[in-house]
This record gives sequence, C-alpha cells and structure tokens, in this order.
Amino acid sequence: MEKVISPSCLQQINDLAFPVAYEFNEGTSVEDFAAFYSSNTKAIDEHLYRQGAISFNGLNIKSRTDFQTVVAAIGNRFINYIDGNSPRTKLSDIVYTSTEYDPAQTITQHNELSYSANWPSRIFFCCIRAAATGGETPLADGRKVLESMDKQIINAIESKGLTYIRNLHGGNGFGPSWQHTFETNDAAKVEEYCRNLSMEFKWKEDGTLNLKHHRKGIIRHSVTGEKVWFNQVDQFHPTHLGRDVYEVLSAMYGADEELPTSVTFGDGTRIEDSMVQEIIETINTVIVAKPWAEGQLILVDNELVSHGRKPFTGEREVLVSMMK
Ligand SMILES: [Fe+2]
Repeated sequence: MEKVISPSCLQQINDLAFPVAYEFNEGTSVEDFAAFYSSNTKAIDEHLYRQGAISFNGLNIKSRTDFQTVVAAIGNRFINYIDGNSPRTKLSDIVYTSTEYDPAQTITQHNELSYSANWPSRIFFCCIRAAATGGETPLADGRKVLESMDKQIINAIESKGLTYIRNLHGGNGFGPSWQHTFETNDAAKVEEYCRNLSMEFKWKEDGTLNLKHHRKGIIRHSVTGEKVWFNQVDQFHPTHLGRDVYEVLSAMYGADEELPTSVTFGDGTRIEDSMVQEIIETINTVIVAKPWAEGQLILVDNELVSHGRKPFTGEREVLVSMMK
C-alpha cells in the first residue's frame, strides 16, 4: 500500500470505511487540500480501487467557485454530460449541478451514463448546501451488488445484454429534449455523435429522437478487472414510475418503447416487473447512505460504485464533476 504523505492539515484516514474517510482539520483550505491531493494521487487511487469511494471531510469548500478551483487543481480528463438523461445545469465546462429532479422523489441507484458507450470513470460530488432533511447520495458497491444478486438475473443479463431506449422530444414534452441532452440545436451533430458511439437513432415525424443503446449491464472494471454490476435497469424500466404514473404515461405514449425511457433485454424481450423489483431490493441491501456535511467532497469510482439520491426538504446544492 502506498504510504500517504501526511501534512499537518490531515488528522486521520479511516481506510476500511465505506466510503474511505479522510479527516482534515475543520476548514482546511482549498489550496492545502489540492497540494495534499497532488502529492498523494497514488495512495488515493489505491484506496479508491479497493473501497470504491472516498470522502474528504472538513474542507473549506463553500461555493461553486471553490469547488471549481478544487477540481481544476486535482482533476484532469474532464468530460461533459452530453447524452445524459438527468435534468441538470451546466455551471462551467467542468462543473454541473447535481440532478434537479423533483426533491420529493428518490433517484434510484445508477452508474452514471452506464447506458452510454462513453461513461465517466470517476465522479466528484461536493455539498455546498446540505438539505434541511434527507438528500443523502446513497452509494452501492457494484461488486457487492453482483455477489448478492440472484444468479438467474445475472445469467439473463450476461447472456442477452440490455437495450436502453430513449425518446427525446424536440422541445415540448416529458423529460429532457434532444437539444438539452446533446447541448446543441444541430441535428447533424447529434447524428454524428450517435454514429461515433454506435447508438441506433431514428427521427420521428413529430421531431422526437429515438435512441437505442446496446450495453452489457455487467462489465469488468477497466483497471482492476473485477466483475461489477454496471447498469441502470431499475432507472430505465417503467416500473420505477409507480403504477399510477405508468398508467398515465402509457395512455399518452402507448407501448413501453414509446415512453421517454425504457429498457429491454438485448434481444428485445421484456424484463419482468418482478425481476426489476428483485434488483431494486437486492441493491437496497448493499446501499450506504450518510448525511452530507457542507464542504464535504466525495470521489466515486463510477464503475465500482453506483449512486442515487434520497428525497429532501429545504435547499440542497450538491455539485458534480465527471472525469474520463
Ligand atoms: Fe447520477
């Protein structure tokens, strides 16, 4: 194990915790933290690959600008959120707000952009303002999810793969538009992007863009080679909407594959509701959800660990930056 060069601002490391906890003196400056991080990247990487996520506690990150300074100093290889499926605001080239999805709703666990061919390997989350109640970002280790998952479900996904289907409206409709999703109004650019990422695309008469991504659902980690649960089945499957909303949307859109998002097995067969329910229940047994502290920074290995969001009240500001 790489030894951590320990400056005076670092009190201790709990390296067996999930996430690993780096405890800094309360109010440690952005500059001191960036210097610490830069001289310890190897040890931090080892902790990240072993535990999947690291929490840096006690930092003096109070604003979007502070977070931007931190990630610009310690990160590289940033990627944008083009092709993302969650409503969020771009604050700069490297920082986004965390999802602006209805605060009263839970966002189920997912590995960011696992439905796409271009996902971030790491994500930084930072809490600028903690919610009055709730608003945790639950984390689940995909190795543990896989260990706990019913073997028939694993076999079905491994043998057939998954097809994620999205219908992105052209400016008026439910969910994000294709213009917002791809950060452009240029349809030709979108088509080029789809071709580059081997996405099937089709324009409908009403201007909706229909997309299909064929993905594995269970992958090997790109560095450690470990097998991990890496998909968003429960987030794309219509059951996550609840029976009432599903019935309303079905009446509006018709078949499941016409809904804004849906998922089937790779051969087009339906994923049974009971299977999705079992997936959600299994993931729930693995989830760790701790309350946010303001100034807290969490680094997540996006292939090893999925994240979600608990419902909240009050004002909550959690920022996100994604790295290739
Ligand atoms: Fe996310």
